Amino acid sequence: MLYLLDIHAGEKLHEKYFFSFSYRFFAIQRYTYYPSFRIFAANKIQLHIEMKANRITELFGIRYPIVQGGMVWCSGWRLASAVSNAGGLGLLGAGSMHPDTLKAHIRKMKDATTAPWGVNVPLMYPEIDTLIALIIDEQVPIVFTSAGSPKKFTSLFHDHGIKVGHVVSGSKFARKCEEAGVDAIVAEGFEAGGHNGREETTTLTLIPQVRQATNLPLIAAGGIGSGRAMAAAFALGAEGVQVGTAFALTAESSASEAFKKRCIALEEGDTMLALKKLSPTRLVKNALFRRIEEAENRGADVVELKDILGHAASKRGIFEGDMEDGELEIGQIASAIKEIKTARAVIEEMVEEARTQARYVSDSMVW
Ligand SMILES: Cc1cc2nc3c(=O)[nH]c(=O)nc-3n(C[C@H](O)[C@H](O)[C@H](O)COP(=O)(O)O)c2cc1C
Repeated sequence: MLYLLDIHAGEKLHEKYFFSFSYRFFAIQRYTYYPSFRIFAANKIQLHIEMKANRITELFGIRYPIVQGGMVWCSGWRLASAVSNAGGLGLLGAGSMHPDTLKAHIRKMKDATTAPWGVNVPLMYPEIDTLIALIIDEQVPIVFTSAGSPKKFTSLFHDHGIKVGHVVSGSKFARKCEEAGVDAIVAEGFEAGGHNGREETTTLTLIPQVRQATNLPLIAAGGIGSGRAMAAAFALGAEGVQVGTAFALTAESSASEAFKKRCIALEEGDTMLALKKLSPTRLVKNALFRRIEEAENRGADVVELKDILGHAASKRGIFEGDMEDGELEIGQIASAIKEIKTARAVIEEMVEEARTQARYVSDSMVW
């Protein structure tokens, strides 16, 4: 791309320069050669970046390539519409909703925003066929599937004009997404909250490999709770980010206040992956976690683990606020979050910091 920039110093127009740069952050490096004009030039570039679409913003028709991951007991219409209204992509978390509840949330969503939005569907959902029929019936524009094969419903969604993202934890699954014809991949690393890949591949390791494995539009997830992390994800080859933990701990999240309060007090190391035999899940180390840990250490089987977990464990923990005997799903990055903000503030701060950080990285890489 060729852009014309007017370089000013105070009021006086000095010169006009032509610069060639792409949307990608590292190309901004050129500006380090003009230190006296840097601030002004940087502002100009920022403007161009803001107006230019990438494959993720284009695909979903959103302003910023920030997706709010679907989250059981957190992402109802309030959170999803707040994210969409702030320029990201809000997803209703169908995983914790009975079809009738999802229908009510879809209807509220339609009233609450005119911006693009979607539904996250974990494919192991018990009433999956009813749920899919409802999504098609309600003309949901975007669906992100997870925890299952992308082959199952992608072409059905496409037949109804629905765009499809699918969440994977490895390159092998990313290639399957390509075969299934999904529109975008979410590659989610080991740091993430919620259910996780068995392979324990971290975001830093995963994204470049998935980037190499497929040409599909790529969204990075797992441990992204700041603009620094967003810029890093782009450097690794992502074109968007999916954020869970940081949105689970916003004012609009439907998680209980007790859960939010507990999570913003967490320190590094206070969450750990558990339940690998069942469905690997990152949990806060509370009393329930300790019981699971003790059982796993002595080789407990799936039946015993299910018994320890009990009925509706995540509802008990996240939604009802049982901090010791409930299942508290949250990502590693919770330890960096210290206050409850609005979803809009999370997005705006992330975008601003990503831009600043990209310029900083660009300026530092001058060897
Ligand atoms: C409380 C919680 C519940 C989640 N529930 C779901 C879910 O129902 N379906 C899904 O695909 N991912 C789920 N996730 C994962 C998120 O959508 C997202 O990919 C992940 O949180 C990103 O990593 P981060 O937590 O480090 O931001 C959940 C995450 C959290 C924290």
